[in-house]
Amino acid sequence: MKKVLGIGGSPRKGGNSDILMKRLLKGASNEGIATEEIQLRDYQFQPCIGCERCRKDKRCTGLQDGMQLIYPKIREASGLVLISPIYSYNMTALMKSFIDRLYCFYDFTDDRPGYWSSQLVGHGRKAVIVAVGEQATSEAGGMDLTLETLRRSIEALGHEVIGELPVLGIFNKGKVREYPQILEQAEDLGTRLASLL
Ligand SMILES: Cc1cc2nc3c(=O)[nH]c(=O)nc-3n(C[C@H](O)[C@H](O)[C@H](O)COP(=O)(O)O)c2cc1C
Repeated sequence: MKKVLGIGGSPRKGGNSDILMKRLLKGASNEGIATEEIQLRDYQFQPCIGCERCRKDKRCTGLQDGMQLIYPKIREASGLVLISPIYSYNMTALMKSFIDRLYCFYDFTDDRPGYWSSQLVGHGRKAVIVAVGEQATSEAGGMDLTLETLRRSIEALGHEVIGELPVLGIFNKGKVREYPQILEQAEDLGTRLASLL
């Protein structure tokens, strides 16, 4: 389905990630594409417990929580936007827990180390990743690590990352509003994502 699903990983409501998300999704809507925003902080879900039941069941049966509401939305959306603030040099715990819970989308072999592939590969899915942090340089604040971890995780899931937006030097809640050029970049990225679906 031609739809862009935005996943926000900030615990801070109304903060920089939320503002960037709104502009990204506005950009996608400009292309006439359906959009939906999910803020992970609004969902009750646990980190993956490594029960491995999904290997056999082909879906997460080990934890009956808020992720069960999100799984069908991931399957149906051809476009994904992942936005996380940087916390301690990497994505937030909310975003990391979310990504770990996508383990149930993988098929595994039983040998060790085993081969794996995602059930979402080969559908032309595309993604955009965004990170926002206080520090002004990519390495000092962990922007490089954050974007790389987000990129590798979402590519493994089967999405081509068609754009990345590093937002550096932004600390206070809502500060990104003072940088219209960054918001324009976010909107353009959303439009580009939608146009490629
Ligand atoms: C617990 C915590 C850890 C943080 N760690 C980093 C960091 O390692 N590098 C960085 O650049 N900014 C760090 N920050 C700053 C946030 O990334 C920054 O305030 C960001 O704008 C928050 O985004 P939000 O408004 O969407 O929540 C940290 C903030 C908090 C609360």
